[in-house]
Amino acid sequence: MDRLQLEEEIFKTLDILEENVSRADAVIERLSSFAKKPRELKIEAVDLKKAAEMALSFLEAELNYYNIKVEKAFAEDLPLIRADLHILEDVFLNLLVNARQAVEQNGKITVGGRVQDGELEVVVQDTGVGIPKENLDKIFDPFFTTKFVSQDSEHRPMKGSHLGLGLFIVREFIQRFGGRIAVHSEIGKGTTFCIFFPSSVWMKP
Ligand SMILES: Nc1ncnc2c1ncn2[C@@H]1O[C@H](COP(=O)(O)OP(=O)(O)OP(=O)(O)O)[C@@H](O)[C@H]1O
Ligand SMILES: [Mg+2]
Repeated sequence: MDRLQLEEEIFKTLDILEENVSRADAVIERLSSFAKKPRELKIEAVDLKKAAEMALSFLEAELNYYNIKVEKAFAEDLPLIRADLHILEDVFLNLLVNARQAVEQNGKITVGGRVQDGELEVVVQDTGVGIPKENLDKIFDPFFTTKFVSQDSEHRPMKGSHLGLGLFIVREFIQRFGGRIAVHSEIGKGTTFCIFFPSSVWMKP
């Protein structure tokens, strides 16, 4: 290897290191805010409709830009649940951003809530690309992502800003507040995430 090749190799390696460091930074930032939360949780009576609406208002401009229709379907007098409002806003935000990315353009996202069989059921539904069957049991795994946004110097796809942590964190928090999450999906038709909160975590206002 001559001097020029060696220099090229060194620069290539530095590039890869830099990319990995910024990726590691993003992972640490996301996980540490998640890990710190237990001590800082503010548990109160949370209105899930309010949490969903906060997240929607945050994404309003983006949803308009992509011409995505939003339908809200919250029943009257939904029970409040014992949880942290800001974390539930984050939960909705993660699900809605995924929905937005799956729909791309001109689709529809439905967000709703109702009491069904003694449980509070919250739904985030999209008319997007859907999730292949073989991925359904992986989507909650940390670092599982199918979103490739850039290429490295060898033109291999790289996982840019998509860490594959969104649903992992969503599920952890829902479980922490006594709930559970399920997913139904059909390729080409769309995806529905259902979150259930049993009456044991409901709260009087
Ligand atoms: N609404 C959806 N429609 C289709 N696929 C989805 C949907 N939500 C999640 N997925 C699939 O599940 C994978 C994991 O989602 P998750 O939110 O955990 O990570 P991500 O969106 O890829 O990355 P990040 O949330 O860290 O930016 C996605 O890469 C995608 O393949
Ligand atoms: Mg995501």
